[in-house]
Amino acid sequence: MSYDVATLRAHFPSLTSGIAHFDGPGGTQTPREVGAAVAATLTGPLSNRGTGGLSERNADAAVAAFRAAYADFLGVPAEGVVHGRSATALTYDVSRALAKRWAPGDEIVVSRLDHDANVRPWTQAAEAVGATVRWIDFDPATSEVDPASVAAAITPRTRLVAVTAASNLLGTKPPVRAIADAAHAVGALVYVDGVHYAAHEFVDVPALGADLFVCSPYKFLGPHCGVLGAAPAVLEEIRPDKLLPSTDAVPERFEFGTLPYEILAGATAAVDFLAGIAPGGATSRRDRLATAFAAIDVHETRLRAVLEGGLAALPVVVHSRAAERTPTLLLSLPGRRAWDAYVFLAGREILAPAGSFYAYEPFRRLALDDPHGLRLGLAPYTDESDVERVLTGLRDFFS
Ligand SMILES: Cc1ncc(COP(=O)(O)O)c(C=O)c1O
Repeated sequence: MSYDVATLRAHFPSLTSGIAHFDGPGGTQTPREVGAAVAATLTGPLSNRGTGGLSERNADAAVAAFRAAYADFLGVPAEGVVHGRSATALTYDVSRALAKRWAPGDEIVVSRLDHDANVRPWTQAAEAVGATVRWIDFDPATSEVDPASVAAAITPRTRLVAVTAASNLLGTKPPVRAIADAAHAVGALVYVDGVHYAAHEFVDVPALGADLFVCSPYKFLGPHCGVLGAAPAVLEEIRPDKLLPSTDAVPERFEFGTLPYEILAGATAAVDFLAGIAPGGATSRRDRLATAFAAIDVHETRLRAVLEGGLAALPVVVHSRAAERTPTLLLSLPGRRAWDAYVFLAGREILAPAGSFYAYEPFRRLALDDPHGLRLGLAPYTDESDVERVLTGLRDFFS
């Protein structure tokens, strides 16, 4: 499958800055088409939703297009697509609504591999109603989820299992389907954080076994917002607080206040842009997304191998070791500070942030000597020269 990264890069005005971006797991750069869709929607005739005038119809059309785009992106019905300000905000909203049905004795399962956005909303909601929290663990030596901890954490009292589809710290893709099957066997709901996963993998929410799946378009070339996908029947069962005049219909029930139509248009444009990466042949947008993500995977996996090959000759520890993982590498630098490497590289216009990246639990579990790790994340627009630059930069840092 051919993948023309130079042609792709020409769509990103920001890449002319000269910065080599390894900060994709924190947020990607944006193609011109996405920015144009935001601007055209915001500056075009635009009112509140309605059917009266063109400006009302434009708002309505932006919402319908967004739901159709994320139905294709996630593999759920359009009526199961919810917009949110961020994945964090969506998860807090869902956790508070679900917790109304929990009681002392109920158990909630979270994982040590997860970003805090898929941990604290659940542990805090559990605490508020006196439910018990159980943990799925991972092995810091392999960065793989510990299957014994899955078996121990899920019990007949489990009401919800919250797990990531890919770690934003280590790249590990845990066996979500197996975890979901274990959860469903005891009647629990499965809430999957797909924020990092959706930037690298073709998403199929039913195949993952996720009852609710959250992602963030700004991690895959879109604007800053969050998207929740679920079967509409799952959403029907959840009753968030709402204003009296606002609709009780699904999915609008979960969307508070006036929607940011321009952001929805940009998020739709990101899906269309990704689908457009597919070499010809596939017909439906969902099929083109599948083909595009396969091509992105080949590209990113090849560059990951080049990067890992170069890192092997450097005095760094690569903590990303799971058999199934995204092209996101967490490094520690024995005897040196990750923060100093970040600053050194930034001085050369190479952006590889140091931190724990809100992955509070996994970062603590790794028990590094350094308060930060150095994260190198590949994105669809990363090219070989970016990889050469970061390897040269790190060599010079150590010399
Ligand atoms: C894996 C993961 N989950 C959740 C989040 C939070 O996403 P948002 O910024 O949309 O709340 C992030 C952000 O970095 C993430 O990487």
